[in-house]
Amino acid sequence: MMEKSFVMLKPDTVQRRLMGKVISRFEEKGLQIVAAKMLHISPELAQEHYQEHSAKPFFSNLVDYITSSAVMAMVIKGDDCISIIRKMVGATNPKEADLGTVRGDYALDTGRNIIHASDSPQSAQREIYLFFQDDEICDYSMPDEDLIYE
Ligand code: RTP
Ligand code: MG
Repeated sequence: MMEKSFVMLKPDTVQRRLMGKVISRFEEKGLQIVAAKMLHISPELAQEHYQEHSAKPFFSNLVDYITSSAVMAMVIKGDDCISIIRKMVGATNPKEADLGTVRGDYALDTGRNIIHASDSPQSAQREIYLFFQDDEICDYSMPDEDLIYE
C-alpha cells in the first residue's frame, strides 16, 4: 500500500553534515521525498512528538537532544514505506543496529542515534501533521516509476 512516513534527521546528523548521505539512501531505494524543511524544534513540539515516552527516565535527555540544534523534518512516500524505512533506520540502540542500516553505519549511542522514523501508520499520520501543513506536502510524478514498481 502506498504510504507516507515522517522522518527526522536529528541534530547530530545535521551538525555532522551527514544529511545528504542519509537522504541518498532513501532516494536510491526508490522512495520519494515529498516534503522537507529544517527547523529548530521547540520544547513543546518535542514533548508532543515524543509524548509516548513522557514518563520514561530518558525523556528529558531526549527532549534536550532533539531541541539542541537544527533538525531536518521530511515526509517520505512509497509502497509500504513505513516498515521499510524502519528497517533501513535500524535498531534504536546503534550498538545493536545491523551494519548497513543508518544507525548501524553512522551512530554509536542510543542518545545520539541520528534519525527518527514513524513506527506505524497511526504514528506517521500524527507526526506528519505535527510538523507539516497539507500544502507543504508535494505530490509529483517519478518518470522512472515503471522501473521501481511492477
Ligand atoms: P525514534 O522514535 O526516534 O525513531 O526512535 P525509536 O522508535 O527507535 O525508539 P523509541 O523507543 O521511540 O525512543 C525514542 C528515542 O528516545 C531515545 N531513547 N533513549 N536512553 C534510553 O534508554 C533511550 N531509549 C530511547 C532515542 O533517541 C530514541 O530514538
Ligand atoms: Mg519511536
